[in-house]
Amino acid sequence: MATREQVLEAIAPLIKAGEAAAESDAFTIRDVVVKEQQVSLTVMSNSDSAESTVEAALSAALAPLGIETVHARFRPLGERAQTSHAAQGGKTDQKDGAASQASGDPVRGHGAGMEEHPLLHPESGVQFIAVASGKGGVGKSTVTVNLAVALARQGKKVGIIDADIYGFSVPDMMGIEQRPDIKNDRVVPIRSHGVQVMSMGFFVEDNNPIVWRGPMLGKMLRNFFNEIEWDKLDYMLLDLPPGTGDIALDVHQMIPHSKEIIVTTPHATAAFVAARAGAMAIKTEHEIVGIVENMSYYTCGHCGEKEYIFGRGGGARLAESLNADLLAQIPLGAPDNHPSEPDFSPSIYKEDTPTGQLYMDLAGQVIAKCELTTAQA
Ligand SMILES: Nc1ncnc2c1ncn2[C@@H]1O[C@H](COP(=O)(O)OP(=O)(O)OP(=O)(O)O)[C@@H](O)[C@H]1O
Ligand SMILES: [Mg+2]
Repeated sequence: MATREQVLEAIAPLIKAGEAAAESDAFTIRDVVVKEQQVSLTVMSNSDSAESTVEAALSAALAPLGIETVHARFRPLGERAQTSHAAQGGKTDQKDGAASQASGDPVRGHGAGMEEHPLLHPESGVQFIAVASGKGGVGKSTVTVNLAVALARQGKKVGIIDADIYGFSVPDMMGIEQRPDIKNDRVVPIRSHGVQVMSMGFFVEDNNPIVWRGPMLGKMLRNFFNEIEWDKLDYMLLDLPPGTGDIALDVHQMIPHSKEIIVTTPHATAAFVAARAGAMAIKTEHEIVGIVENMSYYTCGHCGEKEYIFGRGGGARLAESLNADLLAQIPLGAPDNHPSEPDFSPSIYKEDTPTGQLYMDLAGQVIAKCELTTAQA
């Protein structure tokens, strides 16, 4: 199996040529991740023809190493300086942006620093689980926060990264109002309901909309590892934005060993769309821990009967099509929490409620699955 060093060596002449080319044809390569016979990387270029030529050149350069697939993502060149600046709230990113460009060693700059982050190392013992869906509004964030809290209730050390950078909702859902502290120049995640939480929402004033372009999002996600003082973790849950866009690819590049939970509603269309997120997980070789069907039914307050308001069977069909397990069916109904309670949150179900118990059961299954795979590895 090729090592990252061998891959970097093989593509070094290509990078050199790209950087020496006239401005309109120039390109550079970053974020090189090697996983078995696959390489994923980012090509930064402003040339229209770069996509086909660079892709072909990469495949040719890497074929002798036994690399079967090169997954190249193309991004405009020249966005990096702005990216570091904005994502840092004005602080210059010495480690990643300026320093690596000054050293003339772009490949080491962006991706390499990240891979070396101890948390991201496959041997770190941290189980990464991305919570995904094809469709918006099916309950990814609700499932993420409740699964995280249920894992913490079972004694696990848990973090959440709210990777929905435009549409962050985790702070509100967990009832977090404070801002993070800074310790040794690093941001300390907020602790809420026993879980360490990091969200773009902590850095945005007055809920102003964020209008960053794609590359900045990836940069932000990287900072959520590099610039954050995470305490010891057993599980890190990533609440993904809807769809199968850039962030999902960033997660793949940064954390190729991340597992996934796919959330759907019972409706056939939702399950069909969620299958796309599942297909993406399979393509990126992320193990699917299982499916969570949310808003599965409503229990009538009078007769106790289940009413299947959004249809039935979406979760089971999705699980079957992805060859995964249906881990939980969560009913409709908001938690019965009151703002006067000391640890109030609008979205976290108390442990002693029926839905709270379903999340405890889900957490138990997740632990069993994740820790079994680790034991077998
Ligand atoms: N089981 C449930 N019962 C009642 N309301 C729910 C349930 N699950 C989620 N909701 C509500 O549905 C809305 C959407 O849920 P949530 O924000 O978790 O979805 P999402 O998939 O993360 O959405 P987005 O795609 O916008 O990120 C929220 O208002 C949430 O409180
Ligand atoms: Mg969400």
